[in-house]
Amino acid sequence: MAKTSAKSRTAYVCTECGADHSKWQGQCADCGAWNSLSEIVLESAAAVSAPAARRSGWAGKAEAPKITALKDVRHSEEARVSTGIGEFDRVLGGGLVEGAVVLVGGDPGIGKSTLLLQALARMSASLPALYVTGEESLAQVAGRAVRLDLPLDNLQALAETGIENILHHASVAKPKLIVADSVQTLWTESLTAAPGSVSQVRESAARLVRYAKETGTAVFLVGHVTKEGGIAGPRVLEHMVDAVLYFEGESGSRFRVLRAFKNRFGAVNELGVFAMGEKGLKEVPNPSAIFLSGSAQQPGSCVMVTREGTRPLLVEVQALVDSSPLSNPRRVAVGLEQNRLAMLLAVLHRHGGVVVGDQDVFVNVVGGIRVQETAADLPVLLAVLSSLRDRPLAEKTIAFGEVGLSGEIRPVPNGEERLREAATHGFKRAIVPKGNAPKSGTFKGLEVVAVERLSQALEAAAE
Ligand code: TYD
Ligand code: MG
Repeated sequence: MAKTSAKSRTAYVCTECGADHSKWQGQCADCGAWNSLSEIVLESAAAVSAPAARRSGWAGKAEAPKITALKDVRHSEEARVSTGIGEFDRVLGGGLVEGAVVLVGGDPGIGKSTLLLQALARMSASLPALYVTGEESLAQVAGRAVRLDLPLDNLQALAETGIENILHHASVAKPKLIVADSVQTLWTESLTAAPGSVSQVRESAARLVRYAKETGTAVFLVGHVTKEGGIAGPRVLEHMVDAVLYFEGESGSRFRVLRAFKNRFGAVNELGVFAMGEKGLKEVPNPSAIFLSGSAQQPGSCVMVTREGTRPLLVEVQALVDSSPLSNPRRVAVGLEQNRLAMLLAVLHRHGGVVVGDQDVFVNVVGGIRVQETAADLPVLLAVLSSLRDRPLAEKTIAFGEVGLSGEIRPVPNGEERLREAATHGFKRAIVPKGNAPKSGTFKGLEVVAVERLSQALEAAAE
């Protein structure tokens, strides 16, 4: 059935950044990665990922597009459907949008299939839903669903990996919601490349995206993550879909964090927190508590208020500073950016007069979450200092603030919201940038210490 058309041509796609190249080369000209180009076969000369609706327009069937004043364009709020799981809705930006294609990535065994099966079963009560499994048998999927006590009456399932067959079944059954688990197992007859190869994954996903846009069907694509953290080579999938969610968690911990990495319909970096248990994933609607170690204040620990996405979160940062046997002491950051740590330590030396040049410095964010915002700067330095001096910070203290290269403490967005979160959880003292502090010096029972310079912050922490 596969037509090996004379028109088919090859291209080279960078598996790191998804850039296209017409010729093979040792280094990607876009992102600079070495040996990352992989040959893909394009089905035809037409662009693979261009939405088909648009192409049929160009073919002359519909009118050619014309320039329109934006104010005259008719639009409506996207209709959203709840997944039945509050934390999942939050990460999606308030529910699933009709026709949206959402890529859910994560390590094998993290709980992607579980989460999507739970969500799909709940949504199937109001929307026709189809679960396409390419990894597990139907019996395995059904067994899990029964064990999790999910409502199964309206949930259709299909064990299939060929994209032509999947789309055929979908066009007959007309689900409004499809889960494809996983995208790495999908393949199309129109390419000769092996299933799982970059070109197969890319083309199959592109077909599903096109189908979703043409029919208004929402599609979840499940993708495994490689050791480097990308979704199994083809980063190119990230460009094609509307939202990319990563499911993360520490092995050994039952907590899982779903993070929006890209979202056309909501805030990026939004976090949803879940706990894996006997009955699948349960949402953790008030996650601040789980990222605190809960024990008495220890040296090397500082609680910060981070704001990832749209809500504040209390997170503990731990540091261990120890004299190093190495001539080039180690700086290791888990859950934070490594280079930022090196920079902060330089500021601590230059503007705080604290020497750590002969010490190994390890910094860890408790609970396996990753903090990307600069509000973590000050708490990291306070934790480092506390470990170096072997003196805990005062009980019930929080901190946040960006540290500049000249030793100034800069305000961060949404200061008041962060202070409120700390006050709600019974914290007594906050060391924060002057720009974020209320004039009165207190906030709902929280003593707020406003600092402008790193040296002031270090003094306040030593009290
Ligand atoms: P799964 O959803 O299969 O992961 P993925 O699709 O991301 O590979 O999750 C599998 C893991 O979750 C497995 O290690 C067992 C665990 N698990 C539970 O602890 N409780 C449960 O109720 C379920 C369904 C799975
Ligand atoms: Mg799975």
